[in-house]
Amino acid sequence: MLTLGIETSCDETAVALLKDGRRILGHRLFSSIVEHERFGGVIPEVASRAHIECIFGLLDDLLTGCSVSPDMIDLIAVTRGPGLAGSLLVGIAFAKSLAFSLSRPLVGVNHLQAHLHAALLGKRFSPGVGLIVSGGHTTLVYLKTPTEFETLGRSTDDAAGEAYDKVAKILGLGYPGGPVIDRLAAKGDPARIRFPRARVKDRLDFSFSGIKTAVLYYVRDNRALLEEGKISIADICASFQAAVIDMLLEKALLALRQKRSRRLILGGGVSANQGLRRELEARKEFSDIDVIYPAKGLCTDNAVMVALAGYALYKKGIVDDMHLNAEPSLRL
Ligand code: KG4
Ligand code: ZN
Repeated sequence: MLTLGIETSCDETAVALLKDGRRILGHRLFSSIVEHERFGGVIPEVASRAHIECIFGLLDDLLTGCSVSPDMIDLIAVTRGPGLAGSLLVGIAFAKSLAFSLSRPLVGVNHLQAHLHAALLGKRFSPGVGLIVSGGHTTLVYLKTPTEFETLGRSTDDAAGEAYDKVAKILGLGYPGGPVIDRLAAKGDPARIRFPRARVKDRLDFSFSGIKTAVLYYVRDNRALLEEGKISIADICASFQAAVIDMLLEKALLALRQKRSRRLILGGGVSANQGLRRELEARKEFSDIDVIYPAKGLCTDNAVMVALAGYALYKKGIVDDMHLNAEPSLRL
């Protein structure tokens, strides 16, 4: 059975072909990131136009590359939300047209749930705590089955990825901030500056807006030290990253304990972070936890995860019709 996955929730246009819910036949991705870089963040109108311009070509290229004709597609899965309304609508309209013209089932997918499916690929499913750390969301869930979950907590303000992007902007490192801060952090001293760790007491919620402000004030108040080279940008990145990782892991551990679970499933752009992965391996509290991540290249937005989640929903008998609409504020 061939599933076509379509992802257009933000600045990446992506399509993927998945065979029998587990084998990636191929996937294609175009990112309009260079068009947003100079603004320091994604401009919705620019993103939707980019989706319109490239989605046909991407699908053509994918089908040709996989030697698949449109009529061989059995199921069409598309991101329904969360994301930018205009961007989501491009993917949804495209998916509906394909489903209608080919007479194939259509299934709308929650992008956040799809991020966890990227980690589940190729692994035997067992229930566990899922931590989604993306540019727009930081959410803890308990995954009972691949399609059923219970929400445990989420960020009350900025997402973890958003904090990376904002701190990168403060430090003049460009957009997106995650990969560059991750690289620089490896060269800095994480104990050089003690940034505050937000404590959302007794709950499994997060808060990342304070850390961004702390970095902003630190840079403002320590210009001389920075100019004299007594503190490096790498030290700020390493210290900021250490604080973010502490906050994420504290709540992840609490969730694992509360649910008496030994499995942690990570997903979303920040799950690519090398520092986070190193800490999870090094900390003894996590030594008996089975931590699973998406493969390299499947942490950030892609259409493979959408095809995976769509296939799982379809197998449960969940499908959509032509009333499928964009849900920009959809949550988990
Ligand atoms: O999941 P994603 O591709 O898009 C959303 O659904 O939001 O996540 C993008 C976010 C951005 O904020 C980016 O800065 C962050 O993931 N990111 C990283 C890394 N790679 C991407 N954050 C930390 N370390 C990384 N290596
Ligand atoms: Zn995402």
